[in-house]
Amino acid sequence: MSDRVYIFDTTLRDGEQSPGCSMTVPEKLRMARKLVELGVDILEAGFPIASEGDYEAVEAVSREFPWAQVAALARCSTLDVERAARALAHARRPRIHTFIATSDIHLKYKLKKSQQQALDEAVAAVELARQHVDDVEFSAEDGARTEPEFLEKISRAVVAAGARTVNIPDTVGYSTPKEYGLLIGRIARALGDCAVVSVHCHDDLGLAVANSLTAIEAGARQVECTINGIGERAGNCSLEEIVMILKTRSDTYPYHTGIHTEHLYSASELLSSLITFGPQPNKAIVGRNAFAHEAGIHQDGYLKEKTTYEIIDPRTVGVPEGKLVLGKHSGRHALNERAKQMGFELSKDELNGLYHRFSAVADHRKKGLMDEEIVALIREGQQVLRVAAD
Ligand code: KIV
Ligand code: ZN
Repeated sequence: MSDRVYIFDTTLRDGEQSPGCSMTVPEKLRMARKLVELGVDILEAGFPIASEGDYEAVEAVSREFPWAQVAALARCSTLDVERAARALAHARRPRIHTFIATSDIHLKYKLKKSQQQALDEAVAAVELARQHVDDVEFSAEDGARTEPEFLEKISRAVVAAGARTVNIPDTVGYSTPKEYGLLIGRIARALGDCAVVSVHCHDDLGLAVANSLTAIEAGARQVECTINGIGERAGNCSLEEIVMILKTRSDTYPYHTGIHTEHLYSASELLSSLITFGPQPNKAIVGRNAFAHEAGIHQDGYLKEKTTYEIIDPRTVGVPEGKLVLGKHSGRHALNERAKQMGFELSKDELNGLYHRFSAVADHRKKGLMDEEIVALIREGQQVLRVAAD
């Protein structure tokens, strides 16, 4: 089995459909340009039947980036599939992504359909989609809570009908790595080389990335994910996290993606500027503090050798370099370095004095001190020493 993992980005579909994340068509186009630059393999641009805006977005992304593999979502119904096909008319590598719920709970309460009805509709939708495009993906919504026998049966049936990718979503983020890995392994063995097994994990229990990672080990070769992990409720698997795990820990995970990681940070920043919120400061890879060091012991180690406290060179993800936050936990070493960077060569006494004045201020601060404040403290110290010498 190949070690190439395909990155299916759904920032513009699952991500965009979540609260505070709506984007206009021009905004989606800006984000799509960045995603293409980042090197995502498949770009899901919208759900054309859901709204006029989604239809236009899929059409616009297909026109603007004809060489990209653009996907459009559709329920397993004739209207949906045909609308998705129309929206993709300008794409050179179109993918119709059709889905139906397969778990007992969704079949009974939401769809009021039997397993057989769901299977028949899935097969019919895949066959119809194949009349429009070569590349069809089928998703078994709520797959992780679906009876494994039925999941295997429907997966085999849609592949026989022409699907090239079978996605097993953990729609409600309920699964755990061990359980999900077993399920994905079963489907991967059943489908063999006939289709790519894909995963799509939500983060309701904070396990979306861990579940996706285990799924890759079990045979999945497509991961559906979003920038900053945005998506329904607690979000989707974070693209930057799964990609950087595979890159950083290639010793344990011998798989690779086609992502140009140096664009990860700018992709995150662009998305934050288009929607109503950014990642939390301590978010892995792209958070404001992801490469910031404040504790004195850490700063001292980092200044001696960066790898003591940095497992990723920030430049790898497009962050210029790690930064030292000068706050109440910082030590003399970092303070002296910052003073040097700002053009001050301090004597031992000057540094000691600065450190005491700095600690007195920093102790009452939740946030670190700004460079201007440190310059002011240095000048104050130099003044004190001059007065004492006079
Ligand atoms: O979470 C989910 O099940 C989905 C499918 C439509 C793929 O978003
Ligand atoms: Zn989803």
